[in-house]
Formats: sequence, C-alpha cells, structure tokens
Amino acid sequence: MEKYHKYVFDIDKRKFLGNFEEMYINEDIEGYDSWHQDKIPKEYVELVSTLFKKDQFENVLDIGCGKGALTNLIRDKLNIQHMTAIDISPTAISKARKRYKQIDFLVMDAFKLKFNNKFDLVICSEIFWYLLRDVRLFVSLYIPENPIGKEIIATERDLVNLIKKYFRIKKCGKYLNRVYVLARKEFGNLNIPNKNSK
Ligand SMILES: C[S@@+](CC[C@H](N)C(=O)[O-])C[C@H]1O[C@@H](n2cnc3c(N)ncnc32)[C@H](O)[C@@H]1O
Repeated sequence: MEKYHKYVFDIDKRKFLGNFEEMYINEDIEGYDSWHQDKIPKEYVELVSTLFKKDQFENVLDIGCGKGALTNLIRDKLNIQHMTAIDISPTAISKARKRYKQIDFLVMDAFKLKFNNKFDLVICSEIFWYLLRDVRLFVSLYIPENPIGKEIIATERDLVNLIKKYFRIKKCGKYLNRVYVLARKEFGNLNIPNKNSK
C-alpha cells in the first residue's frame, strides 16, 4: 500500500475518506509524492502533445490539479495563453503556485466552482473517481440542460458516457479516470456559472 492511500481510503471499512489536505501536508514529513504526480509517465507526455496538436486553446481550466505538474505540462505543450487550475487542498495549491508562476492556481472545490468566464478546454485528470460521491451535482454543473432524472449514474463509466453525449471527450485512457473532457466552441463553451452571482 502506498503511504498516501491511508488519507484517501479506509481499506478495512472500505470507505472513502478524502483527507486530501492532510495527505499533502504529510508528504514532506512521511516522504512520498501523492499518486506519483510529479513523475509524469513518458507516454502521457506524448499523449498530451499528439492528441491536442491541432487545437488552439485560450482559456483552460484544470480541475483537481494537485501540485500542478500535469497542468504545467499541458500549458507548455499546448501553448495556452490563460491557464487556471483548482484543487481543494490549500497545501497542494501553495506548492503549485511556488513552482509554476504563469498559472493561476486557486483553492476551490469542484462542486462549488466560482467562475463567470468561459473555458474552451476543461481538464479532468484522475479526478472523476473522487467526485463520484456526488456525481449528480458535478454533472449538473457542466451539462447545459440538466439531464439528471433521466439518467442513472452508478459507475465512472456511466459518468463518462453521460458527459460524452454533450461534450467531445478526447481521451478515455486505459483507466477511465484518466479522462480529458474537451468542450470546444462549436459545442458551446463550458459556461461555469458563478453560484454567488445572479
Ligand atoms: C489523483 S489526484 C490528480 C492530480 C492531477 N490532476 C494529476 O492527474 O496528476 C486528485 C486530485 O483531486 C483533488 N480533489 C479531490 N476532490 C476535489 C474536489 N472536490 N475539488 C477539487 N479538487 C479535488 C485532490 O486534492 C487531488 O489533488
């Protein structure tokens, strides 16, 4: 078992814990890199470069960016002008900010997004699984006419299939949680409402 697992799951009780902040705080003390996110696999670097080669993006949002290594890689490879990245953990965001100065890192919960602007690409990498506990809310934030009620979402695959109806998904990796959601202008940008504004 990896050292960081104990902050995410209680294996004995088979329960999701989601103590992400505690996990990031203890990284240096216990000596681990959560999900080995700082070491991006070579194939992943190639994937990002080839999949998005022809696309031009101005405004990109990365949801659940952790310490920002992947966010930075994507920004670099795709030559993105304005990159925003959010994570629920203040410690992860503080580490990310120190490393990658050209990205706007914000502490924010994926369930409580506060943006008025539109994004033409939203990255969700290794994050869906952690949002499944409240998948209805998550989906309702992204899909123009809320389809909840007509759909039953039980697994991550269902979530991906549902999103696929509305957005083009660039890549469903070997593991389904490696998913990039792509919403291009021709589909209508993702307009993430600011829940605090009317
Ligand atoms: C497996 S890591 C993925 C990190 C990065 N996206 C990558 O692919 O390397 C999952 C990240 O999701 C964040 N996270 C979990 N629940 C979240 C939520 N509700 N809102 C925002 N971030 C969340 C965690 O803090 C963690 O950094």
